[in-house]
Amino acid sequence: MISPDSLPPLIGQSAEFLALLDRVSMVAPVDRPVLVIGERGTGKELIGARLHFLSTRWSRDYVKVNCAALSEDLLESELFGHEAGAFTGAKGRHMGRFERANGGTIFLDEIANASLRVQEKILRVVEYGEFERIGGEKTLTTDVRVVGATNADLPKLAGEGKFRADLLDRLAFEVINLPPLRVRWEDIPILAQHFGQSMARELGQEHFVGFGMQAMRSLMEHNWPGNVRELKNVVERAVSRQAARHLDDHINDIVLDPFARHWAPVKTVANVPNTPVAPAIPTANADMPFTAQVNLLERNLIKGALSTHGWHQGRAAKALGISYDQIRHYMRKHDIKRPAAQN
Ligand SMILES: Nc1ncnc2c1ncn2[C@@H]1O[C@H](COP(=O)(O)OP(=O)(O)O)[C@@H](O)[C@H]1O
Ligand SMILES: [Mg+2]
Repeated sequence: MISPDSLPPLIGQSAEFLALLDRVSMVAPVDRPVLVIGERGTGKELIGARLHFLSTRWSRDYVKVNCAALSEDLLESELFGHEAGAFTGAKGRHMGRFERANGGTIFLDEIANASLRVQEKILRVVEYGEFERIGGEKTLTTDVRVVGATNADLPKLAGEGKFRADLLDRLAFEVINLPPLRVRWEDIPILAQHFGQSMARELGQEHFVGFGMQAMRSLMEHNWPGNVRELKNVVERAVSRQAARHLDDHINDIVLDPFARHWAPVKTVANVPNTPVAPAIPTANADMPFTAQVNLLERNLIKGALSTHGWHQGRAAKALGISYDQIRHYMRKHDIKRPAAQN
């Protein structure tokens, strides 16, 4: 049973991430379906849980189903249940997830993988709260909020007839797009630190040794196709390898690709002991002029610090290590204004 206390914390301070949390808090209490869209490892499941626990349904069940993990028939019986003898192997009566989630929330992961037939049944639950167990005559009712998650382009699939447009219309009442890690690289150091500390604790270490400059640099420069999940793995691997060597230096050895063969040429990372953690180094984007990238970085740093510090300019300047006059200058230069209060 998942409880709000057992949920992993959501870590991040970038403007994109804070805007996402704001949106989740706004959308959560509205009792309508939600679609969570994001690449693998961006935190879709964590956001789904947050939507549930910030809703009025928080004290009821939060049920998760991965629509890609089961065959069409099994998914159907998992979602809607079956009566005894409904099909070969259906021994007793089985209560479906929609029935179990009554009063609560169902998280339908990889929803694009549900077949059109299953989608039709999901639509009926969303619209009328009605369904039948497989092999059952009786129409049952349930009151479940649906949160769908996917990385697929659902409007495109709907255009091709592979996803029901009417279901999409209903689910897309609110769409939450999760930013990939590479567009919020400011979050990489705190996420890495967080995962490093947890792993060190798990290994029974007294403290986490931290990352050396080269290590942090490779974390910052990586593209992270697997997003936060990939970062977590890379960090945990680095911490456990460091622990196995009984080294007390900062971590300098980062293995980004565990499949890399040792006889293939590998990028080596210089071993620079006891160097301080490097500042955030974004990856250069070949499609954007250099000055535009520098401006974007300036703008993101200033906006990020302001939103982290409740738009208190003095505190934001202090956090950035610049003067009050400097932060005022950058705010004017980039036309950064406190956003109007949302309600
Ligand atoms: N903002 C975050 N802070 C801390 N951990 C995160 C964050 N986002 C994702 N994670 C972790 O990354 C991993 C992948 O998250 P998950 O929600 O399963 O991603 P998805 O469902 O999008 O593939 C999990 O271990 C999760 O706890
Ligand atoms: Mg997932």
